Amino acid sequence: MEGHKRIGVMTGGGDCPGLNAAIRATAKTAILASYEVIGIRDGWQGLIDHDNLILDQARTSEILDRGGTILGTSRFSPLKVEGAPEQVLRAFADLGLSGLVVLGGNGTLSVASKMFDMGLPVVGIPKTIDNDVAETEFAIGFQTAVQIATDALDRLRSTAESHHRVMLLEVMGRDAGWIAVYAGMASGADAILIPEIPVDEDRMEKICEMVGTRSGKGKKYSIVVVAEGARLTGFTSSAMNVDCAGGQPSAHRIGEVVAQMVQERTGVETRHSSLDYIQRGGSPTAYDRNLATAFGARATELVRKRDFGKMVALKGNGVVTVPLGQIADRIRTVDRDMYDLAAKFFS
Ligand code: F6P
Repeated sequence: MEGHKRIGVMTGGGDCPGLNAAIRATAKTAILASYEVIGIRDGWQGLIDHDNLILDQARTSEILDRGGTILGTSRFSPLKVEGAPEQVLRAFADLGLSGLVVLGGNGTLSVASKMFDMGLPVVGIPKTIDNDVAETEFAIGFQTAVQIATDALDRLRSTAESHHRVMLLEVMGRDAGWIAVYAGMASGADAILIPEIPVDEDRMEKICEMVGTRSGKGKKYSIVVVAEGARLTGFTSSAMNVDCAGGQPSAHRIGEVVAQMVQERTGVETRHSSLDYIQRGGSPTAYDRNLATAFGARATELVRKRDFGKMVALKGNGVVTVPLGQIADRIRTVDRDMYDLAAKFFS
């Protein structure tokens, strides 16, 4: 017996390429198994607001390659509002759902884990361009963001070379520098700054030295990638050109601040760019479409088997499942080996 034949699907947290591919895969495989599929709008908020739609064949057609999420998303957490977890449980029952598939990053999946403990039959799918969900090699959206950042770095290289400048690109990655490392390595960056390795005076010296050494070798330009969560440590506010006492530059200013420091110390003209939301928008790569398809199909299977409280994950080339409790409130940081490999080519 499979119980009720109704599955709910929602997307929470920041959007990313590949969400629609996962919604499509979940819905189509569920429809094939004779389920009705209910899309919940704007994450957990949609359950509270009773804001949903039926995801039939027509609504889930032609969305495989579409960026964003047709369901809308929000960062609303029911755990932060009194009475909201109970409202979520009631809405789930009122909709007659037998299981809920939640696409989310660390925040949304941690909430899913706690809601499971409170009795919500839930299955998680990891998605985030930051790639920092624990226990999965890749999350949906990451490879697309890496490709966008790599394309941007290739373009920055030609202008950096023409003007003999240091060109610095700030990419996303609040708590982990996966995009910076993967895109930096793919584009042959000369330095990569990530949250996992704080930048102190010593490291800043090395970066500036590298700019000088490259000039000596006839390469009168350099490419630096900075993750938005990269941290400066041990510098005074005036050295960082920031006016907050002893402060860390705010998010979306780290690239600018590092660029100014490099220019001041090397005398080489330095420019910075930020990819911001461009790296989160638009069509997913083939890899992300296929990962999303495999994750979505597996999530449906878990609901059919009533195997709740799990997240689908990538291990090697296979899709596995891990308990949500094992990934909740954790951050998967960059493997040191991966960073060291990229660093071998800094010069
Ligand atoms: O969740 C991933 C992420 O892209 C982070 O890298 C970034 O800090 C954050 O989202 C920005 O999110 P928001 O949409 O809330 O501005």
